Amino acid sequence: MQPSLAVAAQPVTRERFAIHDAAAAPISSFAADVRRGLTAAPKFLLPHYFYDALGSALFSAICELPEYYVTRAEDEILRERGAEIAASFGPAVRLVELGSGSARKTRHLISAIVERQSTLEYIPVDVDAGILTASAHELLTDYPQLSIHAICGDFREPAALLRPHLPPSDERTIVLFLGSSIGNLDPSESGAMLANLRTALAPGDALFLGADLRKSPSILEPAYDDPLGVTAAFNLNLLGRINRELGGTFDLASFAHRAFYNETAGRIEMHLVSRKAQRVLIDGYEIAFAEGESIHTENSHKYDDATLRTLANAGGFTIEQRWTDRNGYFADLLMVAR
Ligand code: AVJ
Repeated sequence: MQPSLAVAAQPVTRERFAIHDAAAAPISSFAADVRRGLTAAPKFLLPHYFYDALGSALFSAICELPEYYVTRAEDEILRERGAEIAASFGPAVRLVELGSGSARKTRHLISAIVERQSTLEYIPVDVDAGILTASAHELLTDYPQLSIHAICGDFREPAALLRPHLPPSDERTIVLFLGSSIGNLDPSESGAMLANLRTALAPGDALFLGADLRKSPSILEPAYDDPLGVTAAFNLNLLGRINRELGGTFDLASFAHRAFYNETAGRIEMHLVSRKAQRVLIDGYEIAFAEGESIHTENSHKYDDATLRTLANAGGFTIEQRWTDRNGYFADLLMVAR
């Protein structure tokens, strides 16, 4: 009997988790972006900065609101059509996800894919290292078939981030971009982002994109201006974050949350409106506000078939399949790289 040999003959447990930190070289800094936005006319701040720890928690609360149909609609699609969607991906895939967050909705797809293949490589990308590590740990516990190669970084220019982590492979690369996060970008920016992503992919690889659809303002507006005030808190937290991280002197009670549907642009706009004339200090410089002056903090674009086709074309993708929820509020699209 040779117990040591028997042990050595066991397959070495493969490394199932790695995290790569690309956040050390950000595209731009919070301080510089805040200064650029607050000295512009009209004033703006980038929605990208909503998501510090408190902002991520408030966004999770938004997803539980009865008025915020977005998360539930996409969850319904992925839960009920997961097997069909996984079949559209094909027999052997590796899965990238931009802005993976808690990866809760992604579980429906992962479950369906591991019914079809014995192992799965999952490459989540998120700016928040904490949520990446926590969600990876839970996924690895629940799915023994999974190995995770996490990337902590800003996915606004995805190709440079992804390319080093996508070596040539027989597996088809599927990139998930869920939740209508694409909607934060203006049409020209979203087309450019998809075109950038396309350069890290091979022909036949695919983007699986979540897009919120155009609908009545009577449904859209309460989703972004809820009576509990959670979205107002989420919006105002941006000023709180400037106070905490950049030594700002914003009085949050002196700003009001405003959200409305801009029908011509096909987007929800969120603003923070100054309730009075006031001056705010940020790290040595001063910003003046007139009474009623607004800071534009977010656009959330809503799509129809024509705008989605234009977007796919601008990125070098062809829409091959489309799934919607029963209400017809939200769509997930399989866009194949040309
Ligand atoms: C995460 C960008 C998809 O636009 O619906 C929710 C963010 N802002 N409520 C959206 C958001 C206010 C959300 N996205």
